[in-house]
Amino acid sequence: MKIMKFTAMNCFMAFVVINCATPAFSTAGGLIDMGYGSRGGSMGAGSARSQEPIQPIPISFDWNSAKIELGKKLFFEPRLSKSGWISCNSCHNLSTGGADNLPSSIGHKWLFGPINAPTVLNAKFNLAQFWDGRAKNLKEQAKGPIANPMEMASTHELAVSVLQSIPEYVQWFKEVYEDETINIDNVADAIAAFEETLTTPNSRFDSWLNGYDEKISESEREGYTLFKGKGCVICHNGFGVGGNSFQIFGVAKPYNKDTQTLGRYNVTKNEKDKYAFKVPLLRNIALTAPYFHDASTWDLSEAVNIMAEYQLGTTLTDDETNKIVAFLRTLTGDQPPIIFPTLPPSTANTPKPVRN
Ligand code: HEC
Ligand code: HEC
Repeated sequence: MKIMKFTAMNCFMAFVVINCATPAFSTAGGLIDMGYGSRGGSMGAGSARSQEPIQPIPISFDWNSAKIELGKKLFFEPRLSKSGWISCNSCHNLSTGGADNLPSSIGHKWLFGPINAPTVLNAKFNLAQFWDGRAKNLKEQAKGPIANPMEMASTHELAVSVLQSIPEYVQWFKEVYEDETINIDNVADAIAAFEETLTTPNSRFDSWLNGYDEKISESEREGYTLFKGKGCVICHNGFGVGGNSFQIFGVAKPYNKDTQTLGRYNVTKNEKDKYAFKVPLLRNIALTAPYFHDASTWDLSEAVNIMAEYQLGTTLTDDETNKIVAFLRTLTGDQPPIIFPTLPPSTANTPKPVRN
């Protein structure tokens, strides 16, 4: 895939300024090790705070435009669902932090799903997709919801035949994949390519990591110190402030609000993985209530206190909780600027929506 990198001017400026101050490049290799080096990791490379356990989201925009544009259309395409009404964006609303802000999603025939929908923003930083990590990457993930009876309730054959009946899609797929016939692999590949662009750089915290001290307040900085000192950072670290390991929910004390959802165990059938979940990304956490796989709280302070109690076996003072929450709020980055796509009309051959 040909990738063109666009580095924003202020990023360039920051890079120069910081480089002059600290000629240390020690984490450049780290970015490459994580597999994101090719997407422009220069921002963090010379950072004044390059030793921190959290790294700034690389600022880079991919412009492989034909594939990404196609993926964007598919992300917003309700005709990939049986009802012709539900798109990826229905549950991963890019107007609201890439999530639906519901305890669990509403799918086909208004069915309530079993688990809270994580955001698609920065999902590329996850070691695997879904709470239990059952999809190894975004491409594999994207095939799931289309055929999930509780979500879009279509089948891969039906979704492909809908696209195949629309000449514009046939043309676009041909341009990108050089194939006359559309297949589900390419549908998922294009959606995943679009999702790769859904990162949220430039949070205030990232600016601070890049050496702009004034970007976060004293209490926000103290919150970060607590986040490290109390041990949150053991699990929530890296570009996504999470997303790079599976951990038991209930390390210090069994979590008893939901004992039905077995998490990683469903994939591995390994007893030690019972109640292990992919550590969620804390990027944009202020936008994605309710929290936890079971949406057991809408309140970020309460979520932090639950983490302290169940993961670390400690109790935070109100002041400590408030400061950690203040820090977490600095993790909201620039939301992807989306121009809402116009979709081509159905034809006489397009299978009709079925609402039941
Ligand atoms: C009906 C609501 C719904 C629709 C429609 C939907 N999703 Fe999801 N999505 C969810 C839920 C719920 C989960 C979590 C499921 C789980 O982990 O078991 C999820 C998980 C994901 C994840 C994994 C995120 C992570 O952190 O693990 C990605 C990526 C994603 N969806 C992308 C998509 C794409 C792409 C589409 C369209 C093809 C789509 N979703 C359609 C509800 C939905
Ligand atoms: C031992 C690993 C571990 C530690 C330590 C830890 N977390 Fe978590 N965190 C998790 C896991 C796993 C989840 C997902 C739990 C679930 O919903 O099943 C999570 C979820 C969260 C969520 C909710 C995210 C969402 O999108 O729903 C927040 C907020 C959070 N953690 C903050 C913190 C804070 C603050 C601390 C320190 C006080 C902390 N965590 C310590 C592993 C950890």
